[in-house]
Amino acid sequence: MIIRSMLIDRLTKAFRAAYGEEPVRLYAAPGRVNLIGEHCDYNQGLVLPCAIDRETMIAVGDSDGNHIEAVAVDLNGQRDRFTLSGELPKAAEDWKNHVRGVAYFLQQRGHVLRPARLTIAGNVPIGAGLSSSASLGVATGLALSRHSGIELDCSELATIAQQAENDFVGCACGIMDQMASACSVAGTALLIDCKTMDRQPVAISATLSIVIADSGIRRTLTESLFNARRVECEAAARHLGVEALRDLKPAAVEAGRKSLTDTLYRRARHVVTEIARVEVAIDALKTGDLKLISRLMRQSHRSLRDDFEVSIPPIDQLVDIIAESIGDRGGVRMTGAGFGGCVVAIMATDAVEEVVASIESRASETSDIKASAEVYMPSQGAQIVG
Ligand code: GLA
Repeated sequence: MIIRSMLIDRLTKAFRAAYGEEPVRLYAAPGRVNLIGEHCDYNQGLVLPCAIDRETMIAVGDSDGNHIEAVAVDLNGQRDRFTLSGELPKAAEDWKNHVRGVAYFLQQRGHVLRPARLTIAGNVPIGAGLSSSASLGVATGLALSRHSGIELDCSELATIAQQAENDFVGCACGIMDQMASACSVAGTALLIDCKTMDRQPVAISATLSIVIADSGIRRTLTESLFNARRVECEAAARHLGVEALRDLKPAAVEAGRKSLTDTLYRRARHVVTEIARVEVAIDALKTGDLKLISRLMRQSHRSLRDDFEVSIPPIDQLVDIIAESIGDRGGVRMTGAGFGGCVVAIMATDAVEEVVASIESRASETSDIKASAEVYMPSQGAQIVG
């Protein structure tokens, strides 16, 4: 992993090389891991993510024209340049659309942006389900707004980054990733009620650690599969006569089962039971109740695998391997949108060393995936770096 000081160095050098001067400021926004509450945000439910100690960082300086210029240092120095007035067309590359979309929606809200030059780099693994995209959107929003003398509330920053992803990139994602990236408080998880948009830091017992294992599996069709799940959830809510699945308790979904196809019933059952699990997880995290954490994460994974159908066999295998090695010292499940990426484990800190060592050796012995596991720290949301 590239550490923060190396990232600063890399960005500053790239800025000098691209624009022949020093950047004025550096801004950063982290990736996130979702602890529990998967596929609940766009159903207006509860989610419990935390920001992680991996981030996208942006160096900013002035530009003399009426343009935003940007260099993606990690993508072979790809460059973008667009004008701040007039139409803003979409680009072919996703990273450009995150930047363009954020600039566009800031202006749509009436903010006057100062022309800027950016270099962008990060250490959030791309496509691993740790929200490298959201961290790019939020970091861009913070950089462009602060450079223009605008102070935004973190939830407005999150909304702008989400709009950019929805409308410019074409992923119908919910608000969780951007909120976690923009609003998290160091050392805590962030409970977000995606109906009221209330948010609250949730303490994580000092006895617990968060370990993320990356399966190395990257899926390209994630956006279309994700969008399809969202459409199914909306259809289930419509059939059950509510605005969003959040408005139903598990018993109400059971009662309405006959009005749904089997697929829509299972999608709805996942969402409502997962929201109920978030409610229970809040206390379990605070008190470090390992048995309860273990049960909730097991139930969450099974529900995502069998009812929501967003897991894949190698991820299930990885979850099983880790669950076996953790035993009753914590829990593990897939995290993020699914179809590959990472699994998250919450476990007793004193079990970490042994579990991490066993994950890598057992994963390579018993399956064809190459998993690497590391401890991640719950971190602060978007911030000025220097
Ligand atoms: C992706 C989306 C989020 C959320 C998760 C699943 O990360 O961007 O909005 O829906 O999947 O919980």
